[in-house]
Order: sequence, then C-alpha cells, then structure tokens
Amino acid sequence: MKINKAEIIISAVSEAQYPKDALPEIVLLGRSNVGKSSLINTLINRQHLARTSSRPGKTQTMNFYQINDQFRFVDMPGYGYAKVSRKEQEKWGEMIENYLLNRDNLRIVFLLVDSRHEPTEDDKLMYNWLKYYHLPTQIILTKFDKLSASRKKRAIKQLINILSIEPKYVLPFSSVTKDGFDACWQIIQDSISHE
Ligand code: GTP
Ligand code: MG
Repeated sequence: MKINKAEIIISAVSEAQYPKDALPEIVLLGRSNVGKSSLINTLINRQHLARTSSRPGKTQTMNFYQINDQFRFVDMPGYGYAKVSRKEQEKWGEMIENYLLNRDNLRIVFLLVDSRHEPTEDDKLMYNWLKYYHLPTQIILTKFDKLSASRKKRAIKQLINILSIEPKYVLPFSSVTKDGFDACWQIIQDSISHE
C-alpha cells in the first residue's frame, strides 16, 4: 500500500472518544516495550508517527492512527508493566475489553510477542482470552533481528507449541531489517477488504 496520509486522530481513554465512522481497524496488543508503536512506524515508513521509547509504558492511551483515510491502527497501552499501579491496570483491562468486545470497526487483532523470550503468562492469558471470544488474531513475533538463525527457527516452533496455534497465524517481524513487512501488509489488506 502506498502511504499518502498518516495521522493520529485521537488519543482516547473512553468509548465516547472513539471515531464515529465505519473505517476498519487493526488493533495492536502486547506487553509493554514489545514493539507495537515501532511496528506501526515501520509499516508506514515514518520514524516518529507513533511514539516509541526505550522506557516501557510509553503508550498509555488508545491511539488511533488513520492511514490514507482507508483504515486505522489502534495502538494500545502495553500490559505487564510492573510500575503501573493495580488501579491503572484495572482501568486498562476495562478499556481494552470494552473496545475488543464492542467495537464493530475491529477487523483483526495483532498480538505482539517478543521473539527473544517464551510467551509470558500475560501473553498466554491474552491469547486465550482472544481465542475464547473468537476474535481474529495474528501473532507477530517481534525483534526477530535479535535472534541467530538457529534461535529463529526454535522461537517459531516454541510459540506454535506453547499456544497451540496454526503456523500461518505466526508472523516473524523486525522493525530493523523489515523482515515480515510484505507479509504483514498482506494480512492487513486481506482483513480490511473483508467485512
Ligand atoms: P509501550 O508503548 O511501552 O507499550 O511499548 P511498545 O510496544 O510500543 O514498544 P516500542 O515500539 O516503543 O519499542 C520499544 C523498544 O524496542 C524501542 O527501543 C524500540 O526501538 C525497540 N524495538 C522495537 N521493535 C524492534 C525490532 O524489531 N528490533 C529491535 N532490535 N528493536 C526494536
Ligand atoms: Mg507504544
């Protein structure tokens, strides 16, 4: 997809603020620091549209990025960040659950998992929750550039086993080497062109 326009529409904290049109949306979930904002920037070839940080917990609102007035990425705050209070975590849970279960615009969930580690308990909970509600989910294995060739193979196998997921739903990705770039766009095109 050629990117002619990419803009942030709103940083929302409640449903009343969500855009009120029918544009398809792709939501990005994953633990803090896994590479959600970087994935968006890489896909649209802009270094700084979505804010990234070496400090976890950077994204604390639901950020709606509109692309070519055709679809939106919804960048969610990351989970599993210890320094966020329990109250904040509960607020996060409600906000995200409400979006995932009620948002008609939602076409597909990108669940990002760090390729360097086994999925965390939070990753597994999140995946099983999505599965339970039959939400279309694509796992993205991030930071793939950081692995050696042999660890790459192992990481994919391990994830498929641990989550008992079909291989086609696991996509390795790197914001550094752009590994997975074309495949990721293909998934986006497919999901936004279907009702
Ligand atoms: P929160 O907003 O805190 O939830 O984090 P996030 O998931 O949006 O992560 P972000 O994109 O801000 O990336 C966190 C850090 O990981 C940054 O320092 C990025 O430069 C780095 N990073 C992200 N993707 C990659 C990747 O594919 N390869 C490498 N080597 N580093 C990456
Ligand atoms: Mg972020």
